[in-house]
Amino acid sequence: REQPDFVVIANRLPVDRVTSPDGEVLWRTSPGGLVTALEPVMRRHDGAWIGWHGAADEKLRPFDHAGMHLVPIPLTEDDVQEYYEGFSNATLWPLYHDVIAAPEYHREWWDAYVRVNRRFAKKAAQIAAEGATVWVQDYQLQLVPQMLRALRPDLRIGFFLHIPFPPTELYQQLPWRREILEGLLGADLVGFQAPGAAQNFIRLVRQRVGHKTHRDTVYLPDGRTVLAKAYPISIDAEGFETLSRTPEVQARAAEIRESLGNPETVLLGIDRLDYTKGLPQRLRAFGELVADGLVQLDDVKFIQIATPSRERVNSYKLLRDNINQLVGRINGDIGRIGQQPIQYLHASYPREEMAAMYRAADVMVVTPLRDGMNLVAKEYIATRWDNRGALVLSEFAGAAAELKQAYLVNPHDINGLKQKMLEAINASGRETSRRMKALRKQVMENDIDRWANDFLTELNAQRDPHGKTT
Ligand code: G6P
Repeated sequence: REQPDFVVIANRLPVDRVTSPDGEVLWRTSPGGLVTALEPVMRRHDGAWIGWHGAADEKLRPFDHAGMHLVPIPLTEDDVQEYYEGFSNATLWPLYHDVIAAPEYHREWWDAYVRVNRRFAKKAAQIAAEGATVWVQDYQLQLVPQMLRALRPDLRIGFFLHIPFPPTELYQQLPWRREILEGLLGADLVGFQAPGAAQNFIRLVRQRVGHKTHRDTVYLPDGRTVLAKAYPISIDAEGFETLSRTPEVQARAAEIRESLGNPETVLLGIDRLDYTKGLPQRLRAFGELVADGLVQLDDVKFIQIATPSRERVNSYKLLRDNINQLVGRINGDIGRIGQQPIQYLHASYPREEMAAMYRAADVMVVTPLRDGMNLVAKEYIATRWDNRGALVLSEFAGAAAELKQAYLVNPHDINGLKQKMLEAINASGRETSRRMKALRKQVMENDIDRWANDFLTELNAQRDPHGKTT
């Protein structure tokens, strides 16, 4: 096979391993937006995707799936504990999310991060064609751009950070702050979810590494320039709308409402079970609305889906127990026989079931304390083709910058949260449809293809002023 001229590097491969009823093991494309965005580009270029396949201590050969060439990177059990659960998800994740949980700094974790990043970089250096475009994804792989450039200066390298990038005041805590900044500067273009994140990065590079900067450009001593800009990510908006219009999904949505006793209002939250998502605040606010008599149990139900995530990491275990306790307490306090106000489910669901839940919900409640973007908010909007339904959205989600017609809230302010939830529950049909129309315009016009195209066009222009296009 020829060497690919387009390579994606991400911590995870875009597939999940599933076992069919007759015991056959197969790969299924994972539901994420990133795969949707990159699949067409991958197909056009016969591209390759380098990533981990999700199991420890297992080496797999490269294989083809759905028109993509997949190159698995093996991780040992130690790598998983130190690089993935440790440095990526107990150091960087909380540090980059406003230290909502306290980041842990361990030198062994850092060593593992360097070691695993080098493994990804080497693999890319080995397979990429001369002059290929390589796109590195997210916080788990911030050293890869520099490592890869050292091995293969001919490559065009892009990096995109899917999560927030913190202000200097927090970033300074990181003992390896300079190494990570230099790692990112190996890219030609560094993309962020929000302009503020790009500015945080530029400011840090100036202050901590001492490079000259002007607006969104960093000038390196060797004459190379690095561009840092915002590319807010989106979803396959049309795909989601189409799915939500199918008779199966609509029937399932009706069934969900029915199983709740056809209440007037269904509120819905769907999140990875993560301490950044503001679940306790949201549940408490709802519990108080019922306890205060501002909403009636017969009229209103709350569905909260929490998708299992990073279950061996301590802060996630603690959160799971906390949420279990909180839901139990609220339901115990305000419930009645046959009236469970909060339906809490700890499970993950296929796209079809998600679409049915969105269709079943009158009010979508998305209240993270900090979030790079939040695609659930955009997915909800894509399924509201009848312009019905209201979105309560945290100011601290990247999506708030685009979704200005949502009921925007500060999730730390429980009274404010109650107020906004109540407003959304009681809003007139005219008001909700006015807001939803504006939200839909934003989401349907800025879908995931546009995100990938904007980034790749800029990346090409950055290294090749004569406009070779990917
Ligand atoms: C966030 C990150 C992704 C990550 C995903 C799921 O969206 O930005 O990089 O893949 O969470 O987390 P996991 O640890 O299961 O890959």
